[in-house]
Amino acid sequence: MSARIIDGKAIAQKVLEEARAGAARLRERGIEPGLAVVLVGEDPASQVYVRNKVLKAAEAGILSFEHRLSTTTSEADVLALIDELNRRDDVHGILVQLPLPRHIDEQKIIEAIRYDKDVDGFHALNAGALQQGRPALVACTPWGCLRLLKETLGNLDGKHAVVVGRSNIVGKPMAALLLRENCAVTIVHSRVPDAAALARQADIVVAAVGRPRLVDAHWIKPGATVIDVGINRIEENGKSRLVGDVDFEQVKNIAAAITPVPGGVGPMTIACLMQNTVSAATAQHAIY
Ligand code: GUN
Repeated sequence: MSARIIDGKAIAQKVLEEARAGAARLRERGIEPGLAVVLVGEDPASQVYVRNKVLKAAEAGILSFEHRLSTTTSEADVLALIDELNRRDDVHGILVQLPLPRHIDEQKIIEAIRYDKDVDGFHALNAGALQQGRPALVACTPWGCLRLLKETLGNLDGKHAVVVGRSNIVGKPMAALLLRENCAVTIVHSRVPDAAALARQADIVVAAVGRPRLVDAHWIKPGATVIDVGINRIEENGKSRLVGDVDFEQVKNIAAAITPVPGGVGPMTIACLMQNTVSAATAQHAIY
């Protein structure tokens, strides 16, 4: 039997509608939610992501302020821009697209963003609050993954989840979110000798390692739910194509449900960013 394909586009549309409703409620109170998006350099993938974020903001009724800086912009100039955005009342969310050029310290830039405008959820205060199960702006990709899991499985209480990958952007916050949902959580990574054997025990597998098709049939228990965060561009049979961290063709015959790439997690990330912007504006105006 073939797995149910989790429709990330449809669920993202629902999340975007929720953000739009939230933005409309703010506007009724005279607050225009605003998102600043900062892109440094010419990375083609980043340019596409930033364009999509600006388009989705418009769809959600969120004002966006785009700042495109040249590759040679100094770290001091990026910090000066962040300082200005931190102070502006019409900017409720600040997103600096990563990766940054090598001469700029990413961590320093992230920590310079006011934590209550950190709609990426990357600031140590937000990451730490999430680990402690306290209110926080949550990183958009893991938050989107959690929403996909809840839409697919309902209550996650007591399920065993294996997160493949331990990045600050996805793996670690994903594990914290699953723990908050009362899952038993295991994180596996490149230094774990038989990660597949651990994953094979899981009801839920979230793959976020950036290795094309690493997670194949041997990693998956029959009936598991599989979320694929990977977006890897590969050359195959002379053609360039996008594949996930999961071997979709193999795993779809074993799992009960699986996200496709593209059209799974990707659209959720942007929709959750819009929700975070609405939440940030709501909190900054102390409307609960
Ligand atoms: N680059 C890749 N993913 C992300 C993300 O979620 N946020 C930002 N700011 N940059 C990214």
